[in-house]
Amino acid sequence: MAEEKMTTNQGYPISDDNSSLTVGNRGPTLLQDFQFIEKIAHFDRERIPERVVHAKGAGAFGYFLVYKSMAKYTKAQFLQDPSAKTPVFVRFSTVAGSRGSADTVRDVRGFATKFYTKEGNYDLVGNDIPVFFIRDAMKFPDLVHSVKAEPHNNIPSSSTGHNNFWDFISLTPEATHMLTWVFSDRGTPASYRKMEGFGVNTYKWVSNEGKTTLIKYHWKPKLGVKNFDREKATRIAGEDPDYLTRDLWEAIERGEYVEYEFFVQMMDMSEEQNQSFDPLDPTKTWPEDKFPLMPVGKMVLDRNPENFFTEVEQAAFCPANLVPGIEFSDDKLLQGRTFSYVDTQRYRLGANFHELPTNRPLSPTANNQRDGAMQSQVFQGPVNFGPSSRGGPVTTPVEGTPYSPHIQGNLVREKIKKTDDFSQAGERYRSMSKTEIKHLVENLVADLSHVTDPAIQKRAIENLAKADEGLGRAVVAGFGLEK
Ligand code: HEM
Repeated sequence: MAEEKMTTNQGYPISDDNSSLTVGNRGPTLLQDFQFIEKIAHFDRERIPERVVHAKGAGAFGYFLVYKSMAKYTKAQFLQDPSAKTPVFVRFSTVAGSRGSADTVRDVRGFATKFYTKEGNYDLVGNDIPVFFIRDAMKFPDLVHSVKAEPHNNIPSSSTGHNNFWDFISLTPEATHMLTWVFSDRGTPASYRKMEGFGVNTYKWVSNEGKTTLIKYHWKPKLGVKNFDREKATRIAGEDPDYLTRDLWEAIERGEYVEYEFFVQMMDMSEEQNQSFDPLDPTKTWPEDKFPLMPVGKMVLDRNPENFFTEVEQAAFCPANLVPGIEFSDDKLLQGRTFSYVDTQRYRLGANFHELPTNRPLSPTANNQRDGAMQSQVFQGPVNFGPSSRGGPVTTPVEGTPYSPHIQGNLVREKIKKTDDFSQAGERYRSMSKTEIKHLVENLVADLSHVTDPAIQKRAIENLAKADEGLGRAVVAGFGLEK
């Protein structure tokens, strides 16, 4: 292999990269040392803002295969042909901790998939838990402020065990179902390879004929689900803070490719209003006996990134990256998400973040958006506007019956009608094994014991008791607070 010659970024040959240019060998350093200035100035700019949530993550590339055509339900082209592989990039993440935080702390995990389809990028930005803490995007900044470090002392750096989290959560009863997941051992997965993924929000599939179906997404790991208990997760957080990142990287390096099966639950639009719960409420799951999981395809992750910063740190997902045949539901949490991701990426990565290697669609793109910081495309010709009589990209109608739902109502700022914050939390608790219940209770007690305000503890326990009296009693007993 030919030896690479070291140069400045402008191509000037570097004869010594370890000594600055000085007057005499003891200094001072000269302002004209452009080689030194370039090196230090670039170093000074190496960090970009970390993601406001999901800051620590690990990524891998691979492919997706659909088992059989989904044409009956969606015109999405990547869900039609079982012989066509769709390239994917997946980023797994923790949510609350900063970029340097430990992988195995109790938290939700992100499971974000970018499908590089022939119709553009489709992003399925999911988590490892099927429900969420809140149901209106308006509350998201408060949720995140409450879980992150407290503003006066910057403690704790990645843990829910503090006053602010439990204060907010105990005043947010719709989070009770989510607590039964996060504080079970699901909150401490043993491997990204052994973790489920869920779209959480409800989406719509639209067929060529205009038939629309409500959809919930599920990923199931081929290796099965495996979690740590609290003691093991805590120990590993100290011994190997990058445990989950390392586990994924090393498995792929060994050639042990990572596989997940892809399922959907479907609900006919006519059934939406007939449920005892609101199917668009992201704090709810759809009962699997009524809405069975239908296998759709499989995903294999078989390639590690070459460069973490370029390919993973700069990756940008957004639930609004759709392809024809997949639409949003009216779910208010999802609607808010569609704005938030691209907005934060314009700030975190800049106006042209979509041109970065992991984010660039493999299919051609064209429009009259131009310029901006770090533009790397060399646009051809004089036309950068439309309509134009002298060329430029032309618009094309989406194939099939157009998706154009009729929507009407008064403008309001209101909660949804069917709230029921506790039933599914109680059902989940009662479906758990003895060991699962023991761990849930111990994990809750361990976390709540960091709360210094007894009124907050009491309120949190009251919500748990509303889900199931036995759960409330068990947590009280765990505290040694029985009357
Ligand atoms: C209103 C609710 C939510 C808002 C406003 C929101 C906002 C955000 C923002 C701003 C980021 C950082 C993105 C970036 O800097 O590139 C992010 C990341 C992420 N969010 Fe959400 N989020 C919400 C709810 C959810 C839910 C319900 C899920 C799961 C279903 C989810 C999954 C993720 C994932 C996986 C990432 C990391 C993406 C990556 O790996 O780069 N979020 N979210």
